[in-house]
Amino acid sequence: MSQLLSITGLSAGTEDKPILHDIDLTIGAGETHVLMGPNGAGKSTLGHVIMGDPAYQVTSGTIAFDGQDLTEKGADKRSLAGIFLSYQAPVEVPGVPLYSFLRTICQMRPELKTTARKFRQRVAEVSEQLEIDDSFLTRELNVGFSGGEKKKIEMLQLLLLRPKLAILDETDSGLDVDALSVVSRAVEAYRADCDGALLMITHNTRILERLTVDETHVMVHGNLVESGPASLIDEIDEHGFGRFEGALGEKSEA
Ligand SMILES: Nc1ncnc2c1ncn2[C@@H]1O[C@H](COP(=O)(O)OP(=O)(O)OP(=O)(O)O)[C@@H](O)[C@H]1O
Ligand SMILES: [Mg+2]
Repeated sequence: MSQLLSITGLSAGTEDKPILHDIDLTIGAGETHVLMGPNGAGKSTLGHVIMGDPAYQVTSGTIAFDGQDLTEKGADKRSLAGIFLSYQAPVEVPGVPLYSFLRTICQMRPELKTTARKFRQRVAEVSEQLEIDDSFLTRELNVGFSGGEKKKIEMLQLLLLRPKLAILDETDSGLDVDALSVVSRAVEAYRADCDGALLMITHNTRILERLTVDETHVMVHGNLVESGPASLIDEIDEHGFGRFEGALGEKSEA
C-alpha cells in the first residue's frame, strides 16, 4: 500500500531540550495505528511535530505526507494537505463563535466548499450525532466548555473536515461512559465515511474496541522502541511498559 505519512529519522525538541530521537514511522492511507507509551515519553510532542507546531524544532529527519515533503511547512499548509490533530488540551479562542470557526475552516478547503444552507444542515446532523447542544454553536470556541464538551467539539471538527490523517491525542481521557461511547462512534464514523487514516494516542483500550488496529507503536523516552500488531496493546495492558524500557536501556548501552 502506498504510504500516506512517512517519517524518517526524525529528531525534534524544544530549543533547549531534545525530546524525539530518530523516529521512523509510516502510516498507509486508511490505516489505524495506535501510539502508546509512559507519561512524558514524547507522544503528544510527536503529534505536534507532525502538525508543525512552532514550539518544536526539527533537528534532523523528514516528514512526508501524501507525496509532499512537509518538514519545513507551517501548520496551515499541513492542515490543508489533510492532517488533523486533536489536542490533549484543546485551546480556548475567545471572540470566535464555534459556528463561524467551523464555517471558516471548511471554506478554506476547496473540496469542502458548499452553500450556507447545506453547511448548516451538515453541522446540525453531525451535532446531533455527537449529542452536542445547538446552543454551543453560538458560544465562543472552547471558552468555558467542560473537558468532555471540548473533546466532542473536536470530533465535530473531525467529521466536518474529513482529513486524510487524524491524530487523536487522548481524545478519550476524562470522558464519562456515555460521552466515550459517542466519541468512539464518531471515530468509527470517520473511519467508515471518510476512509481516513488514524493515529490514536491513548492510555486506554476502550476507545479502540470498535476499531481494527493495523499497527501499534511503543514510545519510551522519545524513542519508538517497538512496532507490532494489535496484540501489543493487550500485552501493555497486562504487563505495563517495563519490557520496553528495558529494551531501550540495552539499545543505549550497545
Ligand atoms: N513545549 C515544551 N517545553 C518544554 N518541555 C516540553 C514541551 N513539550 C513537551 N515537553 C517535555 O517533553 C517530554 C514529552 O512530553 P509529551 O507531552 O510529548 O509526553 P506524552 O508522551 O504525551 O505524555 P502523556 O502520556 O503524559 O501525555 C516531557 O518531559 C515534557 O515535559
Ligand atoms: Mg501526551
